[in-house]
Amino acid sequence: MAKLAINGADPVRTQGWPTWPVHDKREVELITEVTESGIWSYDGPKEWEFGKRFAQFSGAEYGLCVSNGTVAIQLALEALDIGSGDEVIVPGLTWQATAAAVIDVCAVPILVDVEPESHTIDPKAVEAAITPNTKAILPVHLYGCMADMDSILDIAKKHNLAVIEDSAHSHGSQWNGKGAGALGDVGCFSMQQTKVMTSGEGGANLTDREDLFLRIYSLRNCGRLYRDTEGQHVQSGNYRITEFQAAILLAQLERLEAQTLLRDRNAQLINAGLAEIDGITPIIRRPQVNRQAYYCFVFRYDRDQFDGVSVKAFRQALMAEIMAGVDAVYEPLNNCVLYQPHTKRRYHWSEEYWKAIDPRRFDLPVCTKAYVEESVLLQHQTLMGTEEDSKDIVRAVEKIRENVEELKSIETDESEPSSTWASTGFAEEE
Ligand SMILES: Cc1ncc(COP(=O)(O)O)c(C=O)c1O
Repeated sequence: MAKLAINGADPVRTQGWPTWPVHDKREVELITEVTESGIWSYDGPKEWEFGKRFAQFSGAEYGLCVSNGTVAIQLALEALDIGSGDEVIVPGLTWQATAAAVIDVCAVPILVDVEPESHTIDPKAVEAAITPNTKAILPVHLYGCMADMDSILDIAKKHNLAVIEDSAHSHGSQWNGKGAGALGDVGCFSMQQTKVMTSGEGGANLTDREDLFLRIYSLRNCGRLYRDTEGQHVQSGNYRITEFQAAILLAQLERLEAQTLLRDRNAQLINAGLAEIDGITPIIRRPQVNRQAYYCFVFRYDRDQFDGVSVKAFRQALMAEIMAGVDAVYEPLNNCVLYQPHTKRRYHWSEEYWKAIDPRRFDLPVCTKAYVEESVLLQHQTLMGTEEDSKDIVRAVEKIRENVEELKSIETDESEPSSTWASTGFAEEE
């Protein structure tokens, strides 16, 4: 008789998971204030209040709202005067926007591998990739793990490089008491629908440097100077957000700390359980981290310890047990459907540049292994339940482990992409 839910047996749980985004009358109240005030955009009071509060929350001097996370990276690069021919070191395992923003400022993304235990940028690979053209390192705090910021800041200092933190997954993480996005020169956040603080679309930059604050202000506002400051106007466009988005963000920020602590507690509880299961390895938690945000919850699966059963079969079995979306990490950028620099003629401004931005010239074995063979990813909503809900995830993995023989019968198409979103019907994460 079948034991696994995927073969028709009872699943570990049938009840649903918390939904996202979380909202209540506070969002409605603040949106109503904006509607009635008649100030709907353009340096309005809600936008400034959010920028200030989010900076305070993260331990940065300055915070600025921008239209989305991609733009936040683009403006950070432009504020640091990074452009034509400059190289920026980017992890190969990230959402395409991290590298796409680099080519949008005419610089070259140098894709490097990640550490197997964290899936974040490998400092050794960063050091090996530095050339006289390198201008910045762009670490990503991926899913539920901060990049090794001590090593990255040391390398940057030694080679006189800027550090731009892609913190799109890490609102609320803290490294030695300081917030993600406030450790390097500029931090970049996304507030797109699936992120842990959201206004549907939106973004923000954090910085401690007044010069960068003033420059990002201008860059996001068609080159205008900040208030009554003097200086050189810069060429730019409109990357502002509306007061409606800022109103929602203010309400979301009021809940962020409690939600981050809840996800962190549940993630630690699940990791402790998973660590006891043969063939399963949790993503590391670095000792410098006092608080870890989770955009997604990821763990590693070892096929060899599951009698050769593919991670795809394991993911499908887990999905059936817990009734939630289960996926792989991002497609590595050297072979990613949504990162195709050679499809845009705008980037063909020299043969040399065209060759330099070819993602296929980079070798990313750890990223590839994570994507193809070993990653198991759950959305952050699955960390927002009770302790018992979290234990269900451990119970489900234990149950599959105990029924490896039956797991072998699950047929998967190994020629299909590793990602299973298409078959789950759950919203795709960016
Ligand atoms: C790691 C990472 N960087 C950057 C972005 C870009 O943010 P946005 O979608 O708001 O432009 C995202 C998410 O979408 C992301 O996951």
